[in-house]
Amino acid sequence: MTGSASQIALRVVEAKQVTGKVRALTLQADKGDLPGFDAGAHIEVTLPDGDTRPYSLIDWDGNAAAPATYRLGVLLEDDSRGGSRFMHHLREGQVVSASAPRNSFALAQGDAPALLVAGGIGVTPLISMAAALQKGGVPYRFVYAARNADAMAFRAELESRHGAALQLHFDDQAGGPLLLAPLMKNAAPGTHLYVCGPRPMIEAAREAALSAGFSADRIHFELFEQVAAQESDQPFEVELASNGQVFTIPPGKTIIEVLEGEGIDLMYDCQRGDCGICQTDVLEGEPDHRDVVLSQAERDSGKVMQICVSRAKSARLKLDL
Ligand code: FES
Repeated sequence: MTGSASQIALRVVEAKQVTGKVRALTLQADKGDLPGFDAGAHIEVTLPDGDTRPYSLIDWDGNAAAPATYRLGVLLEDDSRGGSRFMHHLREGQVVSASAPRNSFALAQGDAPALLVAGGIGVTPLISMAAALQKGGVPYRFVYAARNADAMAFRAELESRHGAALQLHFDDQAGGPLLLAPLMKNAAPGTHLYVCGPRPMIEAAREAALSAGFSADRIHFELFEQVAAQESDQPFEVELASNGQVFTIPPGKTIIEVLEGEGIDLMYDCQRGDCGICQTDVLEGEPDHRDVVLSQAERDSGKVMQICVSRAKSARLKLDL
């Protein structure tokens, strides 16, 4: 792990349903002051079973350096493994434990223009980015897509704060998903792209941006969803090149979960396949890539993989661990 930050006790001071499936939570420090954060940061909330879930921090005003509260937007996921259901049942007065803020999705463009593209509840870190950009006088465009108007959280607040900089897209009215290629082609030279949404949106946005001439260092993204297990997942073996030990990775468990359970120290962070930290060299065998961080060429090479989400097409992988 990338260093576990100290835990904070957070009391729920407001819990409000904002769409049929999105709940807005406002949390205060149970004691003392809340640590500040930068736009794009998240906290890891500890669930009753000890597992954790990341939730992006929403800062509406560009005042994240000294926040009075932490605000979250939580989507109730249909196939929730318990995280979003737990968060949706929280009531005012309850206390949860969370990590200090971490940020693997920070603004990085200085004074260059920003294009923010949000899909569904992926809007939460981008709300903070838009506030920071607006406060800093940095040009930005904020594009927010949802399946339909009822599914779009925080619409009224965003419209009143961001006016003409905001572009809303509804799949049902437009007859399909947001068209990404024109957005990228029309972006001003030097624009940095920030995308948060489901996997297909991130993959399409990255491809469209690269085709439109964005350099890779101007493309930033974060997945808001955990990678779901697939019904066809099979067990496979992992061999550690350093000592020849072999472990079986069953369906429903990741390589990191199994190896860490055996006391092996590993570097990782997001556990969603978007930060790149757990990247590991593959010496033998064929990975089944489930990340969004590797390029197509890296995937095709079969020489590297993200061990937080990816699995194997071969019976065994030999990893440089
Ligand atoms: S931990 Fe982030 S990509 Fe694996």
